[in-house]
Amino acid sequence: MFITFEGIDGAGKSTQVKKLRKYLTEKGHEVLTLREPGGTVVAENIRDLLLTSKHDITPIGELLLFSASRAELVQNVILPAIESGITVIADRFYDSTTAYQGYGRGIDLQLLRQINSIATFGLEPDITFCLDISPEDALIRKFSEKSIPLAFDESELDRMESSGLAFYQRVREGYLKLAEDEKRRFVMLDAGNKTEHIHDLIKQRLAAFYPDFFR
Ligand code: TYD
Repeated sequence: MFITFEGIDGAGKSTQVKKLRKYLTEKGHEVLTLREPGGTVVAENIRDLLLTSKHDITPIGELLLFSASRAELVQNVILPAIESGITVIADRFYDSTTAYQGYGRGIDLQLLRQINSIATFGLEPDITFCLDISPEDALIRKFSEKSIPLAFDESELDRMESSGLAFYQRVREGYLKLAEDEKRRFVMLDAGNKTEHIHDLIKQRLAAFYPDFFR
């Protein structure tokens, strides 16, 4: 079973990943949680380049770096884990590339589909939970967590986060479009709900989609 979480930065994905991991582990599943980009030595190095580097990166360069990081993670970690029966939960996968590099940066979606398929060796998530939040609310949430006043210091933002509100608006719309295009596996959830309520909805959807898995 391969479960992914998506949504713009600050939507609360990592909290839900942790809660789901705990829940599934208690139910007796062996669970591996991962976050993208990263997860292998090479992929973590690419992550540093993408997020903390102060250098400009072209949109195509950015796309290929995220994809290179993903190929490392899929081949070395995700595929072997799934083959040995482990449930993998990933905090972001190729839908992030479609939303951020496709809708956000404006790279051709047809080209993206091809690159996503190469980088994942054709692997698709069984189910994807996307937490929907407006960029403004996400920013407020992010900085209130860090207890930084709302007149925040821009140097606190990583390279992607410095892309501006209009960029995040396009990314959010990209996710909403993905939810329409990928109805089979995409579950859109309102990130404005209470953490516990979102967790309950996730458990309900998993049980409804995969009753055998939850018996
Ligand atoms: P991260 O610190 O993991 O943020 P978050 O907690 O929001 O997941 O940073 C990952 C950043 O990289 C985030 O801004 C989304 C972006 N990203 C892409 O632009 N394309 C991708 O394919 C992936 C995986 C992430």
